[in-house]
Order: sequence, then C-alpha cells, then structure tokens
Amino acid sequence: MQDFTLSYDTFEPGAETLREALTSTGNGYFCTRGAAEWEDAGLLHYPGTYAHGGFNRETTIMGGRPVLNEDLVNLPNWLPLKLRIEGEDAVRLDNVEILSYRHSYDIHLALVQRELRFRDRAGRETSLRSRRFVSMAHSHQAGIEWTLTPENWSGRVEVVSALDGRVTNHMVARYRELEGRHLNPVSPRTFGPETIALKVQTRQSNIYIAEAARTRVFRGDDPVEVERSLYQMEDYIQQVLAFDVERGRPVRVEKLVALFTSHDNAINETLGAAGRHVQRYPDFAEALAEHESAWTELWDVCDIELPHEPRAQLLLRLHVAHVLQVCSRHTARHDAGVPARGLNGEAYRGHVFWDELYVYPFLNFRLPEITRGLLMYRYRRLEEAREAARQAGYHGAMFPWQSGSDGTEETQIVHLNPLSGQWDPDLSHNQRHVNAAIFYNVWEYYKATDDLEFLRDYGAELMLEIARFWASIAHVNPERDRYEIHGVMGPDEFHERHPGADEGGLRNNAYTNVMVAWIADTAPRVLDLLPASRRAALRAKLGLGDEELRTWRAMSRKMFVPFHGDDVISQFEGYGDLEELDWERYRAAHANIQRLDRILKAEGDDPDRYQLAKQADAVMLFFLFSSDELREIFERLGYAHDPGLARRTIDYYDRRTSHGSTLSLVTHAGVLAGIDPESSWERFMVALESDVGDVQGGTTKEGIHMGVMSGTLDLLQRGYLGASVRDGVLHFEPRLVDRLDGLALSMQFRGTSIRVSIKGDELTALARVEGFRAPVRIAVGGQVRELGAGDGWVFALPPLPATATS
Ligand code: BGC
Repeated sequence: MQDFTLSYDTFEPGAETLREALTSTGNGYFCTRGAAEWEDAGLLHYPGTYAHGGFNRETTIMGGRPVLNEDLVNLPNWLPLKLRIEGEDAVRLDNVEILSYRHSYDIHLALVQRELRFRDRAGRETSLRSRRFVSMAHSHQAGIEWTLTPENWSGRVEVVSALDGRVTNHMVARYRELEGRHLNPVSPRTFGPETIALKVQTRQSNIYIAEAARTRVFRGDDPVEVERSLYQMEDYIQQVLAFDVERGRPVRVEKLVALFTSHDNAINETLGAAGRHVQRYPDFAEALAEHESAWTELWDVCDIELPHEPRAQLLLRLHVAHVLQVCSRHTARHDAGVPARGLNGEAYRGHVFWDELYVYPFLNFRLPEITRGLLMYRYRRLEEAREAARQAGYHGAMFPWQSGSDGTEETQIVHLNPLSGQWDPDLSHNQRHVNAAIFYNVWEYYKATDDLEFLRDYGAELMLEIARFWASIAHVNPERDRYEIHGVMGPDEFHERHPGADEGGLRNNAYTNVMVAWIADTAPRVLDLLPASRRAALRAKLGLGDEELRTWRAMSRKMFVPFHGDDVISQFEGYGDLEELDWERYRAAHANIQRLDRILKAEGDDPDRYQLAKQADAVMLFFLFSSDELREIFERLGYAHDPGLARRTIDYYDRRTSHGSTLSLVTHAGVLAGIDPESSWERFMVALESDVGDVQGGTTKEGIHMGVMSGTLDLLQRGYLGASVRDGVLHFEPRLVDRLDGLALSMQFRGTSIRVSIKGDELTALARVEGFRAPVRIAVGGQVRELGAGDGWVFALPPLPATATS
C-alpha cells in the first residue's frame, strides 16, 4: 500500500476474491466488487453488485423442512468487457502469459484499476489498463475505461460488452445448500446502436432492476468506427464491437452504465430510465472528473491526517473510503440501513444487525444527515417492531436481531457449522440488546447534532417504544427487590442458554440490564425535551401513562446487575460458576480459535458450559459510557462503583475472549485506551489490519466488516482524541499524545464545522467560518471555551496521568 493506494503487484488466483471485496467501488446507493471485467463468477472470481434494500426471500426445503431466508440480491453483472484478438478466445489471465500486472484501488477516488501487459499464444504483446468507478456524483452512474495498446502487432480486435442477468447468490460456501436464485428475467433491449439494456425482477419481492450500458471506442478524442453485432437472450445481452488497432497506438473503450431499481425515488419504469439516463451521460473523463469532485468534497470533511503513523494513516483512509462507499448522502435519500458486511459481499445476506452502533459516531460528527437517514430505516420499521413485541407478549417495540426489507426477524433458525457439517439451531435472535443500541444511537445522534426536530418527529417515538419494550420484558424479583430480564442473550453469541437448560436465553445479561437502567433514566428526559404539545400528542398516541413513567424510574434504580468473584461484573447470572476452558489446549490444537463455538460443537461439547466469550459483552459498558457516566448509573442502582471496576472486569474477560467477531477488537482497544494505552494501540492496529489482512481467514472476501472499519475511525476520535459530548459541550481528553502528533481532522458539532489538530503537546480547535452555524462550546482538560466563527483555541495538553504512561 502506498500513498492513498492499495495495490497488488502480482496476480494470485487464490487471493482474488479477498481483493475483490477490498477493491469494491460504490457510492452508497450501489456497490460492485473489484472483479476483473473479463471474469465470470466461479471459484476464483465473484463479480457481485448489490444495492441497498435489494432484498428477496426464498424458501429452501431442507430434509422436508421449509427454511425461509432473505438475501441481499446479487444484481445483474454490468462489468463484462472481454477482449478477443483476431477472432481468438477471449483473453483471460490463465490463457496468456502475464508480463506485468497491477491491481490497485485509489482510495482518494474510489477507483479500481488493473494494469497488465501480456503475451498471447501468437506472441502478440498487448497492454491493457482498466479504470472503473461507481459515481459519487450521480448515484445511478458507473463507468469503465479500457486503454488498449498493441505493443508489437496490428490487427483486428473484438470487444464484447455485456449485461448479465444470469447471476445467483452463491458466494458464501456455508449458504450454498440454500436457494440462491433470486432473479427472474424480464427483457433485454437496445436504445439506438450504442446502448444495450437489461431488466430483471426479484422473484418474490417483485423489485425491478434495470441496467443500461453505452459502449464506445476512441483514439485520442476521436471516436473509432466500429462494427457492432448484437446477441440477446431473456436474461443476457451483449454487443460485440469489432475494430482495427495499430501497433503502438492506444485505443480507449468506454462503457458507461446506469442502474435503476423500482425502489428509486422519481422513477416511472426502470428500463426506460436506465436507457434514457445512460445516453445523457458524458464521456468517461468528464464523468470521472465529476466523481472526483464529489469525493474531494467528502474528503474535506472526512479525512483523518495522522502523518507520523504511516501504516495507520493509510488504513484509516481506506476505512473512510469503504464506509462512505456503503453509507453516503445517496444512502440517506433511500430506505437503507447499515448492512453489517457492506455492499461488498453476501455474508450475513446483507442483513442489518446492531453494528451501526460502531458506524454512527464517525458519521455523527461529519455527515450527520447520513445517520439521520439511516435511523429512519428503523423508524419506518417501528410498526413491525411493535407487532413483534405484541406477538411475544410484550409492549412497545422489539426490533429484530437481523433486519432486512421490512423489519421482520430475519435471523435464520438453523446455522451450518462448517467444521462439523451439522446444521445447528440458531438462537441468536435472543439478542434483544439491538434495541438498546437503537435507543443509544438516536441519543448520540441528538447529542452531536442538537437536532431536536428529529427527536420530536421520529427519534423520541422510537426511544419511548423501546423503553416500553424493556419495561415489559423486565420483571421484579421480589426476593431481591430488583428488576430482572430473563431469556435474552448479550453480544457474546457463544452463550445461548444456561448449561442444560431447555429454554434459550440467559438470566440477567449485565450489558443488557445496565443499558436498560440507563434507558429507563434517559427516556423520561427525552420526553421532557419535547415541546409540550408534541409531548402530549405522543403520549396520547402511545397511551403512555404516568404509571409507566414511574416504572421506568424504578427500573433506573433497581435493575439487577450480577457480580462474581473479586467484584467483577458477571456477563450474566451464573457466568462465574461455569467451568474454565483449557485455553492452552485449544490454542495448541488449532491455528485459529476465534470460532471456539464451532470447534467445541464439532467435538460434541457445548460452549455454554464454559467461561468464554466470542466478543466483548460486559466490557461493552466501558466502551459506550465514560467512567463518570457509568459511576452515575451504578450509584443510582445502589451498586458500588470503585475506580478499579473497569480494569478488573476488562482483564477478566480479556483472558476469556476469543474475539470471534472483529467488533470485539475495536471494543477492547477502546476500553483499554485509558487503562493501558500501548496495549490499546496494538489492538487498534490489529483492528485496522483485520480486513486488509483477512485476520479471520476467509471472512473478508464475503464482505468488508463495516463495524470494524468505522469502529477504527471512532477509536481515533473517541478513544484517542477523547472526544465526547456532555451537557452540550464537546470535550477532548487526548491519550497517546505522542502517537497523535500531527493529527488533524474536521468534525461537525451541532452544525458547526471545527478543525481539530494536535502538535506536540498542544491541541488546537478552530471553528471554521465555512459551515458555521452557531457558537459551540469546547472543553479540554476541564476548561470550557465558546468558539465563534473563525475562533481558534490553542490548548496546552496536561501531562499524562501516571496510569497512562506506566
Ligand atoms: C457478531 C455480531 C455482529 C454480526 C454482524 C457476528 O459475528 O457476533 O455482534 O452483529 O457478526 O457483523
């Protein structure tokens, strides 16, 4: 990786699918993997295209049992461009001699490029440079440019340009027994001599998708006369462009593409729209220039400069680009959530989990309109969440663990263990904590933006209904005189039930219970923030009586939190009594023990028996709340909160966590920032490397991890710069100041843009004139300043506390 570039200088067939995921290009509306244009889907290549909200449900009959799954559908492949020289077979990397090869991703431009020189069987040497982007300027637009130079020959070539609707979802090996056909053909079409188009429809959800491609050839600025021939089937259309090339004279093939779906705004019919739009598109260079301007604007607010840590610098930028490729302003204009694995692959079927908790902090302080749009994904599914709560015998709204098209529960009921080949029951839908995350996300968005209108019109209703759900799932244990929650799981998916229990779920997951205590305290405050008329109307609409408010108040004081041993928070009640695992034995026997659940189950054992964790669970509390906030929550609950609680609890679980989810790396790096900064930084680097290095050994090719990518950006902002909002003031408490030397980034706080930088032991905050909305209050080391337009403040950072340097 060099400046702003992720590049691979040799072709390695086995690494191609990973590279495709990492060099995907997208614009927050749709995203396409970085597959070579000339390759069809197979074991080594997988040219997938995915658009937000493009879901379809299919049933697979498994042993006579119908199993329903919803997938984010792989859309028709718009990439195909194939080169035939003198009527021979199309060039592929395995039928020519590769003289040089470079596959790169320009992070600044979100542009994927392949440059290759090859010698074919007839000894002809040819160079080909391919450049491709999905436009950040125009959400439906994408473009490919090929520059073709015959180096030692002249002759006739044919370029095949196609749109291929014969695609299925079959990327993820574990899902291959499940139905992967999601598209029905509708029709191919042409629009004049240069444009081919194809329309398909999802089989069950009836979404139309159309693509149109206009392919032209140029030498310099001049169009080249080409002979065109057409071939079409109901689910495939291609045009072959035949033309002469001369030794040493480059020609350019340009394929501009439009993609529309029937879920779009301002749409009549997708095929007509795609055909009309593509004909209006400019040539590749102009389209790329517009795309570049759009990215330049984004980098202006999103770049993070960290000049003295070059590796971290590059990976942070790579993560910024990927986060924006999946969640951009275009996303906010659509009905889209945050798919856990981006739009870069098929893992988790494009579903939306709780991972947005890790994604929003970066967006909240830069492009909050995107968070707002994504939160609306939840609001639009509130009715479904109410129904889910009602069906389960609760009140309020119970959002699903995995969400897709309409907000019903999409978690599968069986899950394939690739180690044993067994389909095990999947109880992970009991992760009701996703509801706490949604509540927390709305609140954090509000704190960063002061967007009271959002709270008034949407956010408060979401929060109140969630609070109400928690009040109904909780019950009082009279013996303890405390509220308890049974039958749920925390984020640690290795524990699905108490050992030997018939029922799924656990008693008193500490993370859930503490979040609920905080929610119960915060929900009434949300109500108080609303204008009186809105408050009254909302209470009337929801039928929210005083009695319920009294219950919330009681819950904020009486939720039960389990502890064990030496005053460590128990992940759930009874965790401390579980058996200890012989970690050394498993480490010695397996190269990778991140997925200990699969290993244990394949051995006929049961992870529920042991003190282990897939990922941060109780530890999440120290990640989401500052020590002051947690102390308040615990004191309100009547539990002692000594300064050592965090360290004891983190140490305890650190030794028992396999980090089977990369989210866990982010969380542990975050909680250690204030306790053991160097260890935190080590983990931060592991999290940064986790997708480029595919640390889980095979998961990244199935889609990037949105949570870890944006989580690393948040780590820098919240963990190391120490940015947090309290009482309308943006506080900075930098840690690891040596490493942050030279750090510069922009943030938006309550609508005002500020530039924050660290040089030596000084922190500078400057309220930019451009984008200034109102004075904002900033605090460093306990001193608070108000910054007006153009005001700067240089603050000498206090010496680091002893714990931070020891
Ligand atoms: C993690 C979840 C996460 C999901 C999607 C799972 O492996 O355990 O916490 O939400 O992946 O990223």
